[in-house]
Amino acid sequence: MSDTNSPKLDPLATADSQETISAEIDDISSQYNSGFTADPANEETQPRLNYPPYRSSLLRHPTKDLHHTDPETIELYSPAFGHRDVHQLESDLTIQHNGEPIGERIVIRGRVLDGTGRPVRNQLIEIWQANAAGRYIHKRDQHPAPIDPNFSGVGRAITGDDGSYEFTTIKPAPYPWKNHHNAWRPAHVHFSLFGTDFTQRMITQMYFPGDPLFPLDPIYQSITDQQARDRLVASYDHSVTSHEWNTGYRWDIVLTGSQQTWMEDEDHDH
Ligand SMILES: [Fe+2]
Repeated sequence: MSDTNSPKLDPLATADSQETISAEIDDISSQYNSGFTADPANEETQPRLNYPPYRSSLLRHPTKDLHHTDPETIELYSPAFGHRDVHQLESDLTIQHNGEPIGERIVIRGRVLDGTGRPVRNQLIEIWQANAAGRYIHKRDQHPAPIDPNFSGVGRAITGDDGSYEFTTIKPAPYPWKNHHNAWRPAHVHFSLFGTDFTQRMITQMYFPGDPLFPLDPIYQSITDQQARDRLVASYDHSVTSHEWNTGYRWDIVLTGSQQTWMEDEDHDH
């Protein structure tokens, strides 16, 4: 008969120490850097899909080629979105409830640009993030940090004609996860960007400068190239900071060549 009082093992939890994970990160990093030094053409700007220190990436990464769908066909049965549906106030995550959320009020401001530096206008940007205690409102996040009743941690915005966007929010805190023993994610904000179709979606994470958890985090480190990693880190920008109101960060997003690719597809379809 089983003892119902015994703690259940979390199937995702591993007993590996941070030292074990860090040693694996260092091994991959030195292999990458020696290859890159030998031939800069080996630059990797995207995260590795199969990055062993990020344990679940072994099971979750795609093993087959992407199935390409026709953007116009999918919109015959998928929901449509339009810029009229997104209210300007949705980009302020601090005014969604009756009271103000606890934490450091920040503004994140930036531009979405294509690979040639042109602004990507009318782009839907959605963000989600943990609160100032590092807690998400999600049933799978049950670690002992408080939920803030005045903070849902989700917002959206549409880029302006110059590709600009802005969010007012609360600076998220690091939070623990189950990759290994004593694993903590650097503070981050998740970003989703749609292009002109549902089939053009990009999801990424924005980090804050100087986070001491960067070298320890297998998700951040799954991008092996330091310059590519740096592009995920916002800059503190005092011109975005407002007197007695918020501190400010700037983060530009470059969608390399995405616009041109989409225009080619349209030409080929018709
Ligand atoms: Fe997260």
